[in-house]
Amino acid sequence: MPPDRRVLGARLRTIDWQPPSTIVIIDQARLPGELALVELRTVGELIEAIRRLRVRGAPALGVAGGLGVALAVAEAEREGWDDDRLARAISDLRHARPTAVNLVWGVDQVAGHLDEGRDTVEEAAISLVQRDVDTCVALAERGADLLSELLPGRPRGLSLHTHCNAGALACVEWGTALGVVRSLHRRGMVGNVFVGETRPLLQGARLTAWELHHEGIPYEVVVDGAGPGIIAAGMVDAVVVGADRIAANGDVANKVGTYPLALAAARHGIPFVVAAPESTLDDGTPTGDAIDIEQRPPDEVVMWSGARTTPVGAGARNPAFDVTPADLVTAIVTELRVVRPG
Ligand code: MRU
Repeated sequence: MPPDRRVLGARLRTIDWQPPSTIVIIDQARLPGELALVELRTVGELIEAIRRLRVRGAPALGVAGGLGVALAVAEAEREGWDDDRLARAISDLRHARPTAVNLVWGVDQVAGHLDEGRDTVEEAAISLVQRDVDTCVALAERGADLLSELLPGRPRGLSLHTHCNAGALACVEWGTALGVVRSLHRRGMVGNVFVGETRPLLQGARLTAWELHHEGIPYEVVVDGAGPGIIAAGMVDAVVVGADRIAANGDVANKVGTYPLALAAARHGIPFVVAAPESTLDDGTPTGDAIDIEQRPPDEVVMWSGARTTPVGAGARNPAFDVTPADLVTAIVTELRVVRPG
């Protein structure tokens, strides 16, 4: 049974299908200040929501891709689109963000049924929602087993470090890396979770902290630059993160700031564990060098809360992800297996 996520008394999914033809998402850009649901009725609205990170996180993007194809088919019927127009809409969706391979995976899972009619397309899309829940629970339990095995005898509970948000908000429910934390918490095994704030869009501070708060799991938010020092000080038993794309050789693309944590984990001899569904493994990308790293607008770096933090004209670079080489990864945990690339 997938566990309930009860926030404010209601069971919420990050993303879901509302018949006859609407996608409903939690608007993550408004969290933690406001828990708001948004209805998306066109592919254009969905693409905009993806680009603005209203819906984000690799597994949630996979589900968004699949449901988006069903949305496109409904819109095509409503607006009288021809096949070319529909194909263009699906291609735009497929390319809405470049790094998380799950988006492409989700689109392709459902687009493969386009010849079978609208009902079949919708069924295929909706099935991805429950599949994501089941997948996350399975991989989280496997990850919790692995960490219990790697780190026995911690009477005060494990001290974990995570980065960005790989929780229920990044999936449909439960989460990947944060799913592992949830599963460990259910076993009474979590002492503390360090949460990297995740500059510049603060997915750790805004979203992961929000989830841990509602779950009653002890946590402390730290600035991204503090992570390696906290590991060096012996305050962390293991780093657990999600992934946006895992190349065939085991190199892992995840939110920028992950690589320094992996370096520190290796230097100080603690496990660096990546929790991700099989749909994040990309056999078509041989190594991390071939992963397309999303470059986001410089304004996200030079502005803070609407105010400029740098001299006018300051240059800025804003890669949204970095790549951790396979030899720094202790284990990749999926719903099916544990891979040890290092
Ligand atoms: O830019 P985002 O917020 O979509 O980046 C998300 C991450 O990097 C997550 O760590 C990753 O998608 C794994 S989510 C289970």
